[in-house]
Amino acid sequence: MKARITGTGSYAPAKVLTNADLERLVATSDEWIRERTGIRERRIAGSGEACSDLAVEAGKRALDAASLPASDLDMILVATCTGDYPLPATACLVQHRLGATKAAACDIAAACCGFVYALSVADAYVKAGMRHVLVIGSEVMSAITDWTDRNTCVLFGDGAGAAVVSAVEGERGILSTHLRSDGNLNELIAVPGGGSRMPPSKKVVAEHLQCIKMKGNETFKVAVRMLEEIARETLKTNGLRVDDLDLYVPHQANVRILTGVMDRLGLPVEKVMMNLDCYGNTSAASIPLALDEAVRMGRIKEGSLVMLGAFGAGLTWSSAMIRW
Ligand SMILES: CC(C)(COP(=O)(O)OP(=O)(O)OC[C@H]1O[C@@H](n2cnc3c(N)ncnc32)[C@H](O)[C@@H]1OP(=O)(O)O)[C@@H](O)C(=O)NCCC(=O)NCCS
Repeated sequence: MKARITGTGSYAPAKVLTNADLERLVATSDEWIRERTGIRERRIAGSGEACSDLAVEAGKRALDAASLPASDLDMILVATCTGDYPLPATACLVQHRLGATKAAACDIAAACCGFVYALSVADAYVKAGMRHVLVIGSEVMSAITDWTDRNTCVLFGDGAGAAVVSAVEGERGILSTHLRSDGNLNELIAVPGGGSRMPPSKKVVAEHLQCIKMKGNETFKVAVRMLEEIARETLKTNGLRVDDLDLYVPHQANVRILTGVMDRLGLPVEKVMMNLDCYGNTSAASIPLALDEAVRMGRIKEGSLVMLGAFGAGLTWSSAMIRW
């Protein structure tokens, strides 16, 4: 018995924010953003559109693709750092709106690694006897973006992606997952205000401390190393070589980070899924959004060997090997 992804889905809000739009907000240029990040545009949630709204759409599409009624779900996991509320969990709102009457529901907070962490939890629960788990990555990063900070506001976007993970006989499915963390590096990417360390206040809002702060350059360097290391570990665990891979689906943060990883691994660009030019960094949504696009484009087929790789705030880094 294996845990297999039997359906994927995604959803991106309609509103597009281009680099030209950002030129009107901060001192930046389309050229700088494209050269340093590879991003051309990103999607932004409409007013009143929250994390669960995106998650429900992506979840419905994944259930459709898996031909599974929501009432058959045993669990819903929503990976997010931009949930509708501090509590209840966004997953509970999704559970209610999907009509998943039997399902347990909780959120997973592992920032950009959230989807791979949640997939690993789903894999473990399916191996322990659950039949169907819906894993969603959903983010409204625009809600925690400081639109006056050019260092960060050009990087992020909103979106959601989902996967149904089911217990299935046979060899195809999730082969391994690998999860890491190093809290010593917690200050590289953080939202300093609005939590119990620094509760919401006029000062927090005035200084935009409820927004994401990042040491971009330092993050860049560790990200390349972490993605390379965990990819090598994942290949080794499964007795595989880089050449065996059909597709690498990495966290869509920055094209230069991904080029660095490709160079170090000797992985050709044709074997790497990239859609960050259209979405920017959508944190926990980025891998499932890319995964769903790859499936729908026919880049992932039955039997394909697919490796996921993520890194993000925490720091956390993670990967998964999947025989589709
Ligand atoms: C953020 C990032 C794109 C910046 O690129 P970089 O090449 O490292 O650039 P630096 O931070 O060294 O900044 C270079 C210069 O560009 C400037 N700059 C920063 N943002 C800018 C922008 N949007 N437009 C124009 N100039 C900008 C800086 O102020 C700096 O100017 P200075 O030299 O006069 O001080 C890059 O570091 C990155 O992608 N890091 C990883 C971030 C990431 O993936 N985070 C998410 C993890 S999940």
